[in-house]
Amino acid sequence: MKIGAPKEIESGENRVAMTPDSAVQLQKLGYECLIEAGAGANAGFADADYEAAGVTVVKTAASLWKEADIIAKVRIPTSTELKRLTADKTLISFFNPAGNEEGMELAKSKGASVIAMEMVPRISRAQKMDALSSMANIAGYRAVIEAGNNYGRFFTGQITAAGKVPPAKVLVVGAGVAGLAAIGTSTSLGAITYAFDVRPEVAEQVESMGAEFVYLDFEEEQKDGSSSGGYASVSSPEFREAQLAKFRELAPEMDIVITTALIPNREAPKLWLEDMVASMKPGSVIIDLAAERGGNVEGTVKDERVVTDNGVIIVGYTDFPSRMASQASTLYATNIRHMMTDLTPEKDGQVVHNMDDDVIRGATVTHQGEITFPPPPPKVQAIAAQPKKEAPRELTPEERRAQEIAAFKAQTRQQVTLLGIGAVLLLGVGLVAPASFMQHFIVFVLSVFVGFQVIWNVSHSLHTPLMAVTNAISSIIILGALMQIGSGSWLVIILAAVSVFMAGINIFGGFLVTRRMLAMFQKS
Ligand code: NAI
Repeated sequence: MKIGAPKEIESGENRVAMTPDSAVQLQKLGYECLIEAGAGANAGFADADYEAAGVTVVKTAASLWKEADIIAKVRIPTSTELKRLTADKTLISFFNPAGNEEGMELAKSKGASVIAMEMVPRISRAQKMDALSSMANIAGYRAVIEAGNNYGRFFTGQITAAGKVPPAKVLVVGAGVAGLAAIGTSTSLGAITYAFDVRPEVAEQVESMGAEFVYLDFEEEQKDGSSSGGYASVSSPEFREAQLAKFRELAPEMDIVITTALIPNREAPKLWLEDMVASMKPGSVIIDLAAERGGNVEGTVKDERVVTDNGVIIVGYTDFPSRMASQASTLYATNIRHMMTDLTPEKDGQVVHNMDDDVIRGATVTHQGEITFPPPPPKVQAIAAQPKKEAPRELTPEERRAQEIAAFKAQTRQQVTLLGIGAVLLLGVGLVAPASFMQHFIVFVLSVFVGFQVIWNVSHSLHTPLMAVTNAISSIIILGALMQIGSGSWLVIILAAVSVFMAGINIFGGFLVTRRMLAMFQKS
């Protein structure tokens, strides 16, 4: 079968659904690849690059849609494009099925199969096909770069001969995929970064990325912000009030605000209101990633950069991934390639549209003359909606005491038994072994016992550094081996040489591992 990518016709769209690299992978799946002439030019991929990767360059869109059995696209197809579909064709593209009834009807009337990339369920197996996430990741990154471009100061704090510069303060509202990418970029540029989300489970991720999670002074604090599907659910009016109060308090301090809050298939909630914009310092920047759906910020104008009366810049661009077309095309084309891998189980260049496969079923919106949207919920739970493990029951003080006593008794019994066995074994050896051997043997047994007791009481998380450093120290063995190496017996010499070698590894390895372990805990 042939898979082809046409040139995007939406004005200002620079991305392309197939790159030379992805074409190589698609060919390994048994497909013949086609590309419309000039389709990759705006993303930095010349026709010659495609040809070098074994792709056939087709002159016009019409012939590409005619020749290809599978058409891969980025933007939602227009009706002119959809009219080119036939019953034996499969279209893979963003499609916005929830708001594109007309498009679905048209595809259905043609009998074609349509796979909507935004419908890929957020389950672990489908992560590599999750184009929404890969595009949101780029949008989050680019939002910070765009903010930096508009902000007249450094992100990082500096002490220079010309004076001290405080670090910028960045607030990210909504710590989903785009939000986390923005947090990562902002902290790596050196800004003090704060983040807020209605889903409490993201607090840990936010903090692990070096940002501070903004908690609310609210009774049901960020308690039930999550719903199934890995997305947020709507929060209560009281919660929203508490959230707005917190934002109002933060607004005068923040230099940059990046909003990404969204609940799928809804208008974006208004979270950064006019008075908050008004209380920000002149020169502050707001990037409203939710502009496509009305924006999180009062004053956002879709696809525009506006400057308020008090000098705050609000950016409402909706094409951030297209502004990084090369990177976005590479990731999107990889998502498509993985989708094709799922659709081609035999790697023989033949599509098997298996509607029992969670991912294929979830993303298919029309198939065999039927509209198959909305899909049933996936059988596997979304990544962010895994059931929480039940917390162990809190014990009463009496129960805890009884448990401690029982554990102590069991431990004492075990120790006494072990000591008894040890004493019997020692006596047994003493009966047959010579006195000089017994002296060394007892020292050996005691040192094993003491060493064991010392290590046993150290917490598990510290075992590696402890072992590393004791390795280094205990390698004093090397001294004994060095004293024996000049011995007359060959056997002793060989044993001493082996000991020196092994102990050498222990010493150097021990110090090396300790250094690496300690470096992990040091702030750079
Ligand atoms: P996501 O669903 O992964 O993240 C949205 C986050 O917002 C979730 O963590 C959710 O819990 C949070 N949220 C929802 N309601 C909230 C509230 N009231 N307060 C605080 N947090 C709230 O979505 P993703 O993929 O990160 O996308 C984020 C936004 O970026 C979307 O609006 C998307 O359309 C937009 N986007 C914009 C692009 C552009 O070029 N401007 C490109 C790609 C995505």
